[in-house]
Amino acid sequence: MIQLSHRPRRNRKSAAIRALVEETKVTTDDLIFPIFLLDGKNQKVEVASMPGIFRLSTDLVLKEVEECLNLGIRAFDIFPVVEESLKDKTATKSYDSNFFYLRALREVKKQFPEACIMTDVAMDPYSSDGHDGLVEDGNILNDETLEILGKMALAQAETGIDILGPSDMMDGRVGYLREVLDNNGFTDVSIMSYTAKYASGFYNPFRDALDSAPKFGDKKTYQMNPANSREAMIEAALDTEEGADFLMVKPALAYLDIIKLLKDNSDLPIAAYNVSGEYSMVKAAAQKGWLDGERVAKEMLLSMKRAGADIILTYFAKEFAQAVKRQ
Ligand code: PBG
Repeated sequence: MIQLSHRPRRNRKSAAIRALVEETKVTTDDLIFPIFLLDGKNQKVEVASMPGIFRLSTDLVLKEVEECLNLGIRAFDIFPVVEESLKDKTATKSYDSNFFYLRALREVKKQFPEACIMTDVAMDPYSSDGHDGLVEDGNILNDETLEILGKMALAQAETGIDILGPSDMMDGRVGYLREVLDNNGFTDVSIMSYTAKYASGFYNPFRDALDSAPKFGDKKTYQMNPANSREAMIEAALDTEEGADFLMVKPALAYLDIIKLLKDNSDLPIAAYNVSGEYSMVKAAAQKGWLDGERVAKEMLLSMKRAGADIILTYFAKEFAQAVKRQ
């Protein structure tokens, strides 16, 4: 026998020992399930680039939320699919309290007050330009956009939702929204800021789901350059100072270093958005039989948690919960 002072394999010799030394666990408590909401009744349309993910009308969203609650998923991020004819330059529908999205949010909170409901604050689903901010002569205006986001945030807060998710990347939006909320008595509505949101190729399936792709250009003047990490620290410092309750990194898988960076430098809870393209890659490879989809999805979620994410927004949430239940 060779004399070895350390044999790390001893801690891997049985399932029981492996469980004892396991450092990281993903549970349903950590997950937020994004849901795409359609207008109408009894509508269920699969997103072509996201097998297993559907656009659902309000009645079916209520069923979905109930099923997920029974599986232990208690947090949801709801996004509206807006018909092209209802989009305009100023995203008017986003703060029309009669719009189906805002009515649906009220209904969900009424039926499931215990569910944690998050919404998205950005103009793109409602904008005829398909940009997150107001467009003038091909430019995305910052301060003028804030006023629209303020109205949108207020209209969402009035439905009783729990967390606002500004995903627009305009400067100063967290502070601006916090002030609007507080001035209107919504001191309990939280802000999960998309702090380090990168101009990424991984969002395409989401834009298919919402038909929200930009009509011209790209989002590089407001979303971050994938080459940068120190810039994430600037965004994190500002969001923290402006009153964010959570900091988010998006996408997640190609940005694990950014998750770790924010985790090591902030005491706020860190969220990671395991975005649409990350989901689609796994599903596509699994459909071809090239990967075990369930196994790699779990491994991906684990990597985000290990990197420091306290919370993961993921399209795998429901499947993950079903797999846990089966075990
Ligand atoms: C809207 C928004 C996007 C996502 C969340 N909110 C798309 C974008 O910024 O273009 C992407 C989510 C995903 O890909 O799963 N501002």
